[in-house]
Amino acid sequence: MSQYHVIAATSELEDEGQMHVALNGRDLLLCKHEGQYYVIDYYCSHEIFGLEGGTMQDGCITCPFHGAEFKLSDGSVQAAPAWEPILSYPVLVENDTIAVSID
Ligand code: FES
Repeated sequence: MSQYHVIAATSELEDEGQMHVALNGRDLLLCKHEGQYYVIDYYCSHEIFGLEGGTMQDGCITCPFHGAEFKLSDGSVQAAPAWEPILSYPVLVENDTIAVSID
């Protein structure tokens, strides 16, 4: 059974907000987009720069460095120059807290 870790309160994230989260040695990016919470790998799979600050639109995030685009819900690549997907993790929102499973 997956274990969920509380990473933030819902009040900490504005609409279309992003937050870097360090959890068990992993760097993650918590995003709120169109009312949904997503947790993805913090680093882009292209040249390992941070995705934080990337534009979110239509369910995707665009890397602020060279423009690779990833789907927030599953980490799949939607636009080059990245070709490897990133990970998107299961999120649970309960009682104003946001939790993620990284197992
Ligand atoms: S580091 Fe993200 S597209 Fe190059």
